[in-house]
Amino acid sequence: MKKQLDNGFISYDLVGQGIPILLIHGYPLSREIWQPQVNGLSDHATIITPDLRGHGESYTFDPPYTMDKLAHDCKLLLDDLSINTPVIVNGLSMGGYIAFALYRKFPELFKGMILTSTRAGEDSSEGKANRDASIKNAQENGVDSVVEGMLPKMFSTKTFENNPGLVESIHRVMSTTSLQGVVGALEGMRDRPDSTPLLPSIQQPVLIIHGEDDQLIPIKEAELMQNMIPNASLVRVADAGHLPNLEQTEIYNQAVLDFLKSIS
Ligand code: MLT
Repeated sequence: MKKQLDNGFISYDLVGQGIPILLIHGYPLSREIWQPQVNGLSDHATIITPDLRGHGESYTFDPPYTMDKLAHDCKLLLDDLSINTPVIVNGLSMGGYIAFALYRKFPELFKGMILTSTRAGEDSSEGKANRDASIKNAQENGVDSVVEGMLPKMFSTKTFENNPGLVESIHRVMSTTSLQGVVGALEGMRDRPDSTPLLPSIQQPVLIIHGEDDQLIPIKEAELMQNMIPNASLVRVADAGHLPNLEQTEIYNQAVLDFLKSIS
């Protein structure tokens, strides 16, 4: 489905019934990554999966894509869908940065929060320099060049070696991200604020899910968030890297279902 928002359109799916869960994908991905959650959870919840601007089938706006702007798109979508009750927001990686931006502006929107494969801190100076190098690489050599370098790091080495079908499908999703989407998201992530000071103020229950073999964001970042958020639990997923929802779907979906039961 498509919604006209902010002079462009956002593509999204809305499936199921029950408490609304907004699933925000990471970079450079799309709502396709949530298909196993749509399949496994939509009997228990209303699953809303947008494609962020510049990603998937959504409109490609000009960069930069600040986390605030991406959060604003999500809020506009919820408003447009007349979702007025508090929702559970589940952000994966960059989606988590967006969840923090959303919480900063609209804490009352949240019934609970799920933080998947993400971190609260801002980029280090080395991290910012890496973003600049990736932006240059994308502009000079194209999106594929960035994707090729990133693909093996999206998974545990075990998944990468043993599940070529999954690796290939994520390769395809990443490669369809527009150049503006890649550059816009890299600029937005590079310049995002530190969300660590926000953590102690999060009042709602939080579920943190993190792959033990995440090569992009180490699990110690998840432990740090668990320690600083008043009401947070952490599910460590063995044999999963950056995409535990795809690499260990049953464990991931069960963790979300348990969280749903605990707060509804
Ligand atoms: C993501 O998966 O969204 C990105 O890897 C996050 C990041 O680069 O910081």
